[in-house]
Amino acid sequence: MIALRIQSLRKSFGNRVVLYNLELEINKGQIFGLIGPNGAGKTTTINCIAGLFNFDSGKIEIFGRDLITDRIEVKKNLGILFENTESLFEYLNGEEQLQFVGEIYGLDKATIKTRTYELFEYFNLDIFRWKSISEYSKGMRKKLALASILLYNPDLIIMDEPFDGLDTLTVKKIKELIKALKKNNKTILITSHILSYIEDVTDEVAIINNGKIIFKSPTNELRTKFRNSVTNEYYESLEEIFLDLTSNGEDDEKMIGWL
Ligand SMILES: Nc1ncnc2c1ncn2[C@@H]1O[C@H](COP(=O)(O)OP(=O)(O)O)[C@@H](O)[C@H]1O
Ligand SMILES: [Mg+2]
Repeated sequence: MIALRIQSLRKSFGNRVVLYNLELEINKGQIFGLIGPNGAGKTTTINCIAGLFNFDSGKIEIFGRDLITDRIEVKKNLGILFENTESLFEYLNGEEQLQFVGEIYGLDKATIKTRTYELFEYFNLDIFRWKSISEYSKGMRKKLALASILLYNPDLIIMDEPFDGLDTLTVKKIKELIKALKKNNKTILITSHILSYIEDVTDEVAIINNGKIIFKSPTNELRTKFRNSVTNEYYESLEEIFLDLTSNGEDDEKMIGWL
């Protein structure tokens, strides 16, 4: 079964095209990494999936349902960790945030209570449970936003730069969480520009550059299938493929004259 299917997605801002006929297919149970340099179009792709704005053309389906015609049903089974977690409800405390989200998703009070307790404990947020979100740090906001998704247990989870700005312990925790979610047959799309984080948690990766997918491969074939076009050696890491494909022939030697 296909969890997420994006066909010929095109998105422009004014007269600037940012996504060009983007194609992406993620099977149920897969952990998929979408990587690319800053400005490549990762967040725009996710914002299209989230329905934050209209796209010019194309089609997005989640578990076979059309994003546009089946909006509510699609969203019940979808959780998105946005790149920017600044926009949580500042006037709520952590506990209230989870209760609020749980009620929106129709969970009963007892389930909300037990899950909230477990999530706060898991993310080491217990002591901030009654603190206003406005007092949360960036990392705590990210954890709370992630807890808000896990609370209603959707089958497709999308994380836009989940490791950004987090300390190593939290990064480790989120990687473990991703692996545990995979065991429970959840589908996850992760974007990142930190390639090493992606390589050991994904089943498949795609590289996006200038709004187009320019490379796609099962993660375990990365080091055995592709050779550097110049040296003919196998690539040693995703990082190397990424640099090779996205450098656009830029000269590494160039330096700022006055430095
Ligand atoms: N709301 C917007 N209005 C105009 N341009 C935008 C907007 N959002 C993103 N862009 C442009 O679209 C391109 C892709 O951005 P984005 O999807 O955020 O990249 P990434 O997440 O891969 O770093 C960038 O050039 C960015 O400047
Ligand atoms: Mg982004």
